[in-house]
Amino acid sequence: MQELRINGGRKLSGEIEVSGAKNAALPALAATLLTDGITILSNMPIVRDVFSMCHLLESLGASVSIDGTTITVDSSNVNQWRAPHDLVRKMRASVLVMGPLLARFGRAEVALPGGCTIGNRPIDMHINAMRQMGAETELIKGDEHITCKSMKGTRVHFDRPTVTGTENVMMAATAAEGMTVLENAAREPEITCLANMLNKMGANIVGAGTGTIEIEGGYPLSSAEHRVISDRIEAGTYAVAAPMTGGSIRLTGIEPKMIASLLSKMRSAGVAVTESENAIEISGEPPFYPVDITTAEYPGFPTDLQAQFMAMMCLSDGKSVVTENIFEDRFKHVPELNRLGGDIVIRGRNAFIRGVKYLSGAAVTASDLRASASLVLAGLTARDTTRVLRIYHLDRGYSGIDDKLRALGASIERVDGEGP
Ligand code: EPU
Repeated sequence: MQELRINGGRKLSGEIEVSGAKNAALPALAATLLTDGITILSNMPIVRDVFSMCHLLESLGASVSIDGTTITVDSSNVNQWRAPHDLVRKMRASVLVMGPLLARFGRAEVALPGGCTIGNRPIDMHINAMRQMGAETELIKGDEHITCKSMKGTRVHFDRPTVTGTENVMMAATAAEGMTVLENAAREPEITCLANMLNKMGANIVGAGTGTIEIEGGYPLSSAEHRVISDRIEAGTYAVAAPMTGGSIRLTGIEPKMIASLLSKMRSAGVAVTESENAIEISGEPPFYPVDITTAEYPGFPTDLQAQFMAMMCLSDGKSVVTENIFEDRFKHVPELNRLGGDIVIRGRNAFIRGVKYLSGAAVTASDLRASASLVLAGLTARDTTRVLRIYHLDRGYSGIDDKLRALGASIERVDGEGP
């Protein structure tokens, strides 16, 4: 099993081009099922979750080719409507094919994703919305069977904003008769990216990026070319990494407003941030001022940057509180950060962090994608060597993270380890 070995203490400096967003790429790939033509997606991140989604599309009959960061999907021979458990278990976002399959075949069989390391994460809101549009659902041996002879546009109010739920229903609604209105919809930039793609394919969607989205059919959609947006979470991860090492970096290909909530907290922590239209310069050094964060839906502080910011707060000169409001169990990085010398106590949804002067290298185990990233950041600043085990989590969502960090001057090596 591969691991990362990091010799901490090197200041990061230089420039990084931010990759395409994993969480925009996955729904874009699922949306290719809505056409029987060819879709060309550019600026795609070459990460494990994207490969998993490509395999899922192939298992449904699509042909997929990857050339650099461009992925071409030919959906003309798609003839299956079943997303099997082994694929859904590997990647929850596989549930994103449910909406497109329902639109295309009037039926879909998608295994229930079950629990995951950051909490229970049900898909009840996806299913309820599809029911309201006329679908019938039945759970058979752990697979959700959905059928719908003719979907009707309706008004759906989500109990709370759900990112993949909004995307799934938006895609299903392209095949509904009449208008579908999604209220309390998620407002993440990845939703807008998907709506733009669907509109290019012939759908008529307005309001993406706000809490109310209106979708007026358009199915079957046609071939299109689409460039996915940059990865705000990847950008945010490097933005936190640089000052943790006392370094200074420039991120290109990212609109600063996509991570405004993070940048504001970075400034409060004493980090220098310079924004331009499509780039961010960031520099600073520990100790940081202690800053509290509370995760929230976009445009609030992203849960996907909570672990990384917590690693940074380990190096503050006071006490800070991180409150996780999106997922009920997203503090798996805490014991590992403490192994590196952090001083963090969890009480319910809050983590209380007392800043320390420095972190010290140790072997730590990654539990999920963003938790793994926080351990890498901690390793970059820690004294001596840090081994980050089980890095397959990291490879699910970060494109060449070790290469990018090495180019910025980090001492980081990927090796075949002896296992956890
Ligand atoms: N929820 C329900 N019922 C549902 C759907 C969601 O109770 O039917 C709950 C969830 O359990 C959670 C909250 O609603 O407590 C919000 O979850 P959401 O549905 O928005 O999350 P998601 O769509 O499953 C996406 C990202 C996650 C990111 C979250 C929150 C993708 C593929 N995944 O997940 O990304 O953390 O939104 O922003 O877009 C990651 O990249 O590391 C990652 C986990």
